[in-house]
Amino acid sequence: MGRNPLVMIIDEDPIFRQELQAMLTPARLAVVADCGYGVEAASLAEELKPDLILASIEEPIARAIQTVEAVRGIRPNAPVIAYSSSTELPLVRQVMHAGARDLLVHPFKVGELLAAIEAVMRTVPSGGAAAQPQAAGTILTVFGAKGGIGKTTITTNIATAIARDTDNSVLVMDLDTRFGDVAIMLDIEPAVTVAEMAAQVATLDRATFKSALVEHSSGVFVLPSPKHPNDWRQVQAEDVKQLARFASRMFDYVILDTPGAFNDIVGAALEVATQVLVVTSVDMASIKDTSFILDVLESEGFPDERLFLTVNHPNGANTIRSADIERVLRKQVFWEIPHDSQMTMATQVGLPVVLARPKSRAASNLTGLAGKITGRDAPARESKGFLRRLIPAGSRN
Ligand SMILES: Nc1ncnc2c1ncn2[C@@H]1O[C@H](COP(=O)(O)OP(=O)(O)O)[C@@H](O)[C@H]1O
Ligand SMILES: [Mg+2]
Repeated sequence: MGRNPLVMIIDEDPIFRQELQAMLTPARLAVVADCGYGVEAASLAEELKPDLILASIEEPIARAIQTVEAVRGIRPNAPVIAYSSSTELPLVRQVMHAGARDLLVHPFKVGELLAAIEAVMRTVPSGGAAAQPQAAGTILTVFGAKGGIGKTTITTNIATAIARDTDNSVLVMDLDTRFGDVAIMLDIEPAVTVAEMAAQVATLDRATFKSALVEHSSGVFVLPSPKHPNDWRQVQAEDVKQLARFASRMFDYVILDTPGAFNDIVGAALEVATQVLVVTSVDMASIKDTSFILDVLESEGFPDERLFLTVNHPNGANTIRSADIERVLRKQVFWEIPHDSQMTMATQVGLPVVLARPKSRAASNLTGLAGKITGRDAPARESKGFLRRLIPAGSRN
């Protein structure tokens, strides 16, 4: 998994800005800012330092061109890809003079957009703004077929490990529509929940959102799940998607915990994800359910490269080898978490094991997983034994 260039979208049409963002998500491009023409674009470029700018050129054309010029002045090394419904020569010339590197004809296909992005990013001078990759906008969904297989444990531990070990900001959103356990596992008191934030996502601003979040002592921000499963009834999956994307413009990592079930909220969590940890335990029932889920995702056309199979051993009894799991699921194991009774003990004191028992086997394993997610190397002692087979040494991607 890696770090992505930060993208800014300038377009007067907020709906198309959303659509464009959706096109970029699978390519793991993080949109840090989106706005219309004018001074806001320049100030956001200054504040958020995008590496790539996508700019719509529509009426009023002069204002669109001025905006591109202003942003270019602030981020001279960030290439601009413009798009317009007009291809008249005077407009094309104006756009090129404003410093755009490419001009797409609107509407365009995802493939055309990504090809244009790839082409301009390849030629960005090294040492320039865009050449410094930054972690941002990663939405990591922790997903699995069943309850009790360690999803929330993994969510809370990797979130706290990332916050502790890196400079990245981390938000956990609890999308478990049955038993939202994140607040309990982190021993925090939920105030505002996903339900209220999703309901007002259309008009949400950064300050309101930030003030609604609970900050855990580890530095992780949390948006808990509503207390009662009934409170999920009014929550629209579409709003949850928008909320996750909104959050990913403010946090380097947005980690979504999910229930052990398939529903529209889980669908939303999968759709917005840049990466999905597919968690399975090693009992036959869990593997069968995981196999079913992988088949469903495949038949829905879900991109396989976004799925990372994570084998957990919540129970001591372990009879199935990961090689057999790989064979049955026809998928490589990305990470394996050993059984460790310290995990449950940590849960009882309301702290993730990486904080409660940092020297335990579970803690160093989960720290390694967080490191792999953020592109840092796994700790050396974790590459011994069975993990060596699973983790390509020093892999960054
Ligand atoms: N590798 C492990 N070793 C020991 N206990 C574990 C492990 N993974 C999870 N557990 C325990 O299993 C229980 C269920 O985990 P949880 O994260 O709540 O699962 P889910 O979110 O999938 O329902 C918790 O008590 C947790 O401490
Ligand atoms: Mg859970």
